[in-house]
Amino acid sequence: MPVEYQFSTSEIQKKIEKGINEMPAMSPAVTKIIELANKSDALPRDLLSVIKLDPVMTGKILKLINSVLFALPQKVNIIDQAIILLGMNTIKNLALTTAVSGMFQRKKSGGSTQKMDELWHHSLGCAIAAKAMAKLAGVPRSQVEEYFTAGLLHDIGKLILVQSVAEDYEIIVKDANMRGMQAVLLEEECFDISHEIIGHTLGEKWNLKQDLLETIRHHHNPNIDQISTMTMIIYASNYYCMKHKIGFCDNVGNTTIDDKIWGLLKINEEQVIDIFDDLPIKLAEAKQMIN
Ligand SMILES: [Fe+2]
Ligand SMILES: [Fe+2]
Repeated sequence: MPVEYQFSTSEIQKKIEKGINEMPAMSPAVTKIIELANKSDALPRDLLSVIKLDPVMTGKILKLINSVLFALPQKVNIIDQAIILLGMNTIKNLALTTAVSGMFQRKKSGGSTQKMDELWHHSLGCAIAAKAMAKLAGVPRSQVEEYFTAGLLHDIGKLILVQSVAEDYEIIVKDANMRGMQAVLLEEECFDISHEIIGHTLGEKWNLKQDLLETIRHHHNPNIDQISTMTMIIYASNYYCMKHKIGFCDNVGNTTIDDKIWGLLKINEEQVIDIFDDLPIKLAEAKQMIN
């Protein structure tokens, strides 16, 4: 039976806008780290002096570096050593990871806590798979962590939906499930805005890099002729997360991945299937580590 929508699009959009405005800014330390890492002439010692101002974040970064996510042969105890070993870009992405994980755990009255947890599960799954795919696709080591961050952030717009318009969003998610289609299409139809656009707006507010913004904006329906490696990987990683129903995600429906993607990435579907076979264990370990 078709759902009778009774939404006031303007009311929903007002709530979404409020949700975006109320979303916390990145902490001063994370903002400074993003700024520094985006500058070509920044020095490791500049990064070090900013990171050391935030001991809680430093502790979390070191914990992540020593986790299964990096599988380093030896334990890293000081942040100076971590910067030398992993590079500034990786440290920047780890700072972002700690900041983003905090946002997924920030419960908001009226929001759906269960959906937020499931969305965190999905985002982390997509991040782990994206990093593994980036390695296979030959992405330079210094940039691989960028793909993990992109996976974590790709559905950040949904965080606003589950926090700000939880009940209305639930209705369209249920309807999309019933109809076996991607909910993102109903977001556009009913709310006149999608989680891709909401996430992009939020990313702009945080001064995220252009490639990351582009990926957040187009991860469901990218233009294959003008697609970046990052968007391709997140698109494919998200697609497989949907297919395997990793956490709270859209329906894969009857969509398939364009063969061109595998050709451009120079990886094959079998390799991706292997990544997803290992994903549940890696996801459980990472969740324990980050939470
Ligand atoms: Fe999405
Ligand atoms: Fe997703």
